[in-house]
Formats: sequence, structure tokens, C-alpha cells
Amino acid sequence: MATVGMSLTQFLLEEQRNIPESKGSFTSLFNDLVVAAKIISREVNKAGLIDILGAAGTVNVQGEEVQKLDILANDTIVNTMEHGGQLAAMASEEVDDFIPINKKYPRGKYLLLFDPLDGSSNIDVNISVGTIFSILKCRTGNDATTEDFLQPGVQQVCAGYILYGSSTMFVYSTGHGTHGFTLDPSVGEFLLSHENIKIPDDGKIYSANEANAENWFPGTQKYIRGLKDRSRGYKSRYVGSLVSDFHRNLLRGGVFVYPSDKKTKNGKLRLLYEANPLAMLVEQAGGAASTGTERILEVTPTELHQRTSLIIGSKNDVKEAEELWSEV
Ligand code: AHG
Ligand code: MN
Ligand code: MN
Repeated sequence: MATVGMSLTQFLLEEQRNIPESKGSFTSLFNDLVVAAKIISREVNKAGLIDILGAAGTVNVQGEEVQKLDILANDTIVNTMEHGGQLAAMASEEVDDFIPINKKYPRGKYLLLFDPLDGSSNIDVNISVGTIFSILKCRTGNDATTEDFLQPGVQQVCAGYILYGSSTMFVYSTGHGTHGFTLDPSVGEFLLSHENIKIPDDGKIYSANEANAENWFPGTQKYIRGLKDRSRGYKSRYVGSLVSDFHRNLLRGGVFVYPSDKKTKNGKLRLLYEANPLAMLVEQAGGAASTGTERILEVTPTELHQRTSLIIGSKNDVKEAEELWSEV
């Protein structure tokens, strides 16, 4: 039985003890990730004081402007994770190809996929950003190729995010519920604050970038119009950092919608670094995640940086959206 205030490391150890085949390699990988999270949290908290704000002057594989903190977060994860010996390779939203493990380090059987800094357009204005991660097993041993990363989300062994908000939180799932930990800066540890999170079946919040409404397909337009019926009591809340919007809706109930539309046929968000990990977390909390026509976790990816349409949140809200989605 976990107690409030238990450290993330202790909690994970206890959880892994109940899995007979667990040999400790996952725990060791996870602990390295916790260290990376603490380092990024420290740096994000200094934004404004040291020269890490603003654009880096390059664009990434998706044609988006890269921020200095995107690079810092990316490099922190790669440098912290690559010598642990548990990874076969990594893949990052900010890097075109997958990232092999430097030859001087041993390799293991896991793959780490991540969005180093989600919501980067919000960094300069002090709004919460986050890191999202997904862990898969490399099915072909420890000599990874791109194909090894192209597994549907149901295969994830762990997923989570770190939210650099009014406090820093680490939320994760290994398929045994979704749990949240808050960083206590005075002891430098993530302590259990939200055990076994359950998202309400019905929400009262919807999150969408309504500036795109003109490009939405009729089903999306009809769905959002329905939520505006004042007798239903919905509020609109949209920060523009997926992690932050998702976290609020996870705790309060609600739905986040970033659909494919007439302009962006495949949607904006990334399946492997954003949609899959959050879909695992929401399902483990009793919610749902869909493309509009398909369960996110069952989509078989065909490319590393694949985008997807995403509706994620409270179970009944996602169901309602799915019912209207294909309407023309
Ligand atoms: P990233 O900063 O990792 O590129 O992700 C940005 C994403 C996501 O965080 C957010 O929900 C969405 O972009 C916002 O997009 P719009 O500005 O188009 O609303
Ligand atoms: Mn992102
Ligand atoms: Mn990002």
C-alpha cells in the first residue's frame, strides 16, 4: 500500500516487485529518466535569468522553429539516458532519424521515444510546458532500426510526462494505473501526490484551437457547436501546451481536440511522441483517446514523425465526438 509522500523511486520499486519477470533493468532506466526530469525542471525554472529563452535559429524535421530550451531538454535526455545500458536506441521529436546509442556504451532492450519540450511556443511567456515520453521494447534485440519504433501504442511498457508548472509533476503509467508525483524542491525528490488518478466519465471542459474552426470538417464543427449549448455548462480552456491542457482535463474531466482538418489532413500532433503516451495515461485513468474513427493505441505507425488527429479525455466526451466525427 502506497502512502502519500512516498518517493517516485520507492513507488516504482514496489510496483516492479509485484511483476515476477521484472529484473530491475526497467527500474534502472526509469531512474535515469527521473534524473533527466529534475535537470530539465531546474533549467526551465531559470528561464529568464540565463540565456535559454528564444529561438535557436533552426527548424526541426516538421518545419517548426526550434527553441533553445527544446535543444537543452533534448540533449539533457540523450546525455542522461545513453550510458545507462538499458536502451537499444532513442527517438526524439526534434531529431530527424532515431538516435543510436553511442558505441562506447552498452545497449539494452528498451526504446525511449520523447517530445523533449512540449508547448515550446509558451516558454518565453512563462506558461507551463512539459516533457512527454513513451517506452517500448525493441522486438529485434538491441540492434534497433526505424521499424522497431513503429509499434502501435498498445505495446508501450510505460508512458508519462513531466509538467513544469506551478510545481513540477511527474505522471506515469506502466499499465497499472496512472500515478502523479510532485517535485519537492527542498529534498529534490518527486513525492507521491496523486495515486491512481481517475478522470471523470463526463467533463465540463473542452480544449481546442478554435481559430482553426473554419478548416474543421463538418463533424468537428457540429461536435464543438453542441458543447456550446449553454444548458450543458461546458467551459472552453486552451493553454496551447498539450501537456498542460491534458493534465488539467485529466484531473478535472474534459476533452482535448486537435483534429485533422481541411488544411492539415493528418492532424498536427505526433502519434509516437504525444498521442500514444497520453492515450495510455488517459486509458489507465478510465478515459479514452481516439483519432475520431479509431482508438489511438491501435494505430500502427508507418513513420517516426507521423502526425495524427487526436480527441482525448473523458470517456463519454470522446464517445460523443466519435459519433459525430464522420458526419458530412
Ligand atoms: P511542441 O511544442 O512539442 O511542438 O508541441 C506543440 C503542440 C502542443 O503542445 C499544443 O497542444 C499544440 O501544439 C498547439 O498548437 P496550436 O498553436 O496550433 O493550437
Ligand atoms: Mn509537443
Ligand atoms: Mn516539442
